[in-house]
Amino acid sequence: MKIVCIGGGPASLYFSLLAKKNNPEWQINIYEQNPDNVTWGFGVVFSDETMDNFKGADFKSYKAITDSFVHWDDIDVFHKGQKITSSGHSFAGMQRLKLLQILEAWAIELGVVIKHDVIIDSIEPYKDADLIIAGNGITSFVRDLHSDEFGTEFVLRPNKFVWLGATKKFDAFTFYFNENEHGLWRAHCYQYMPGNSTFIVECTDETFVKAGLEKATEKDTVAYLLEVFKNELGGEHLITNNSLWRNFPQVKNTKYYHDNIVLLGDALHTAHFSIGSGTKLAMEDAVALNDSINGFDGDLLRALPEFQKIRQPAVDSIQRAAQVSMEWFEDVERYYDTMETMEFSYSLLTRSLRINHENLRSRDTKLVAEIDAVVAEKAAQQSGVPVGQITPPPIFTPYKLRDMVLDNRIMVSPMCTYSATDGIIGDWHLVHLGSRAMGGAGLIMTECTAIKAEGRITLGCSGMYSDDHINAWRRVVDFVHKNSFAKIGMQLGHAGRKASTRLQWEGGEKEQLPSKDDNWPIMAASPIPYTKKNQTPKEIDRKDMDCLIADYVAAANRAQEAGFNMLELHCAHGYLLNTFLSPKTNHREDAYGGSIENRMRFPLEVYLALRSAWPDEKPISVRISANDWIEGGFVPEDAVQVAKAFKAVGCDIMDVSSGQVVVEEEPNYGRLFQLPFSEKVRLEAEIPTMTVGNIQSYVDANSIIAGGRADICVIARMHLFDPYWARHAANELAYPLEMPDQYKSVEVYTPRWI
Ligand SMILES: Cc1cc2nc3c(=O)[nH]c(=O)nc-3n(C[C@H](O)[C@H](O)[C@H](O)COP(=O)(O)OP(=O)(O)OC[C@H]3O[C@@H](n4cnc5c(N)ncnc54)[C@H](O)[C@@H]3O)c2cc1C
Ligand SMILES: Cc1cc2nc3c(=O)[nH]c(=O)nc-3n(C[C@H](O)[C@H](O)[C@H](O)COP(=O)(O)O)c2cc1C
Repeated sequence: MKIVCIGGGPASLYFSLLAKKNNPEWQINIYEQNPDNVTWGFGVVFSDETMDNFKGADFKSYKAITDSFVHWDDIDVFHKGQKITSSGHSFAGMQRLKLLQILEAWAIELGVVIKHDVIIDSIEPYKDADLIIAGNGITSFVRDLHSDEFGTEFVLRPNKFVWLGATKKFDAFTFYFNENEHGLWRAHCYQYMPGNSTFIVECTDETFVKAGLEKATEKDTVAYLLEVFKNELGGEHLITNNSLWRNFPQVKNTKYYHDNIVLLGDALHTAHFSIGSGTKLAMEDAVALNDSINGFDGDLLRALPEFQKIRQPAVDSIQRAAQVSMEWFEDVERYYDTMETMEFSYSLLTRSLRINHENLRSRDTKLVAEIDAVVAEKAAQQSGVPVGQITPPPIFTPYKLRDMVLDNRIMVSPMCTYSATDGIIGDWHLVHLGSRAMGGAGLIMTECTAIKAEGRITLGCSGMYSDDHINAWRRVVDFVHKNSFAKIGMQLGHAGRKASTRLQWEGGEKEQLPSKDDNWPIMAASPIPYTKKNQTPKEIDRKDMDCLIADYVAAANRAQEAGFNMLELHCAHGYLLNTFLSPKTNHREDAYGGSIENRMRFPLEVYLALRSAWPDEKPISVRISANDWIEGGFVPEDAVQVAKAFKAVGCDIMDVSSGQVVVEEEPNYGRLFQLPFSEKVRLEAEIPTMTVGNIQSYVDANSIIAGGRADICVIARMHLFDPYWARHAANELAYPLEMPDQYKSVEVYTPRWI
């Protein structure tokens, strides 16, 4: 086999030595533009886990690399004159040049031919090779040549960064955040050889421009940054090596190979420097490609698809983590002032949620105990409930909204069960909601309950539009209050253009098929049907608005009579009030359409009316879809504006969901996929939030609360197959969540927490 590698970075070098070691007869040539012993950059960092992978792949280079390491355990975060140290992280760093020298020497010893000072600008001369490795980094011309075939996405991120070295010895992975008259400067610093460290500085474009660095030479940059980090550097020097300000390029490819060309390393994907995984990814690509080729005895037609198959899940996962980490650093301004040092540091440490509350605890028990204590104390002050003998984990801290005090931060999300008759709920609802209240959640939210018969999604939906409904609901409310510490809220809604559809299990929810024979007239902000199969709704006029407001108020009064603790106004998921908010469903030309201010006018009118009808001491939340997941739709920035407006009319907490507004949506599902919207709304609109969507475990939930990403964790589907989700979480966390009297004996027989 004849293999040509364009570029001699970690990806090409590591692949070549692995391939040559297994197949000494193969001819492998590397062409590198830089002279021998020259490279850009300073250091690279690896975790223990990464090194274990390389140990199995090639022991000799593993040994040489680990012999060159400087190790550290700590991460230091400096915030507003305070320092938080977190231990147990076990990192190692080394000089980038040294890494390349190790890989290169071993590759040459194995027989790989490496030619330096060769700039390749065409692949034509190498077309006869069996395999061409495009290992020529971020700006790979080989990838760009076939970008359509590779499905390349190349995005320059908004922040500016510069990669420098420093003569200062850092004993920890150190993050500085320094503010001056131009803005906030972040520095990411770590040692790579005794006495030498990488010093990456990052800032927003606005700060960069204000600082007048647009035309800065390396000398200007160093002079400026020496002043910004004067106290931190304490007289040490900054070192340059082609250190020019850049925007981080985010590279993704849907196809990893084309003909006999395969992308490797940064040419294939980038991962933001804040998670220090670029070199690891490049070298792991090399391992996977080598394994795939060997697995198919050199049959490239089968090996290249196999390479993508085994590599893509890991790459996607790292890129997802890198994306969140990158966004955290891009948006530091919003955390910097609103958070205290401990919360800020926790938010930084857990930013990609790969480090979460529990694995941070196993790395640094003391720090997590301190964080738990800070969160518990803050919750005690907020709720007026003193911390007991045992410090509760973050999700089991109390929370107060107006006069309603929740025992903990877990809420059962509103979930339609389509089991009412004429809007009247029955035994199903009593057992369904009652068992979830006994299950330990602090707050139970009813399914979307219609304010009028025509506002039901289906004939099975619950209602609060007649006095007959009050008693049925009171039975549930009384049960919850009598048999649990849970509070119960009612979600009030009107299905709008999504009304008059079949029961979920008859094709309602997924396909939103219209009711069979018994359709009723529907209404929405604009006369646009949800799907071609659905009716065209009537455009709501002023008279309809007045009637709707009266219906919302009447339902609220009934909810008060039934004894509910709280209301939630449903403005999400494409239902009536959401049709006003979204530009996709609101094409009105009056004062209720057009600008975001106009589009939120009617939902705000409804909220104000509810607020004046609902007792002052009881809270009202608002559920929104913070993202329509479609071009030209409602976006998270709109959600911030909407949340600010609801806050101004007295809204207590925003329940931040997303989507289900238009059928053509393309949501980006994944673990905690809606959490960034909650965090954004909470920090930028400065209003408490509930977060919902794929919260899979109490570990996630603790990280959400402790990191200030939301105030309440809302859990839907997990509660469907585990009504006792909260109790299971408490048991796992060895936290003594109060049991109903009837179950107290469990504490005698299984005293885990004693
Ligand atoms: C600021 C910053 C900090 C980083 N910190 C870390 C870190 O701490 N840890 C980590 O793991 N990763 C880090 N990375 C990322 C890491 O450097 C890269 O992910 C890694 O080097 C990728 O390896 P590669 O072999 O794919 O590409 P590269 O290392 O970029 O190698 C590509 C090679 O191809 C050569 N080349 C390019 N074009 C041509 C051509 N036309 N002809 C011949 N040769 C060519 C280049 O000279 C280069 O040597 C960081 C990156 C940046 C920007
Ligand atoms: C069966 C079912 C019914 C739902 N009904 C409602 C509803 O009535 N009101 C609402 O706002 N959301 C409703 N949702 C959405 C959930 O409240 C929640 O936002 C969504 O399922 C994501 O959370 P999860 O990942 O924890 O399931 C429903 C979800 C399910 C699975």
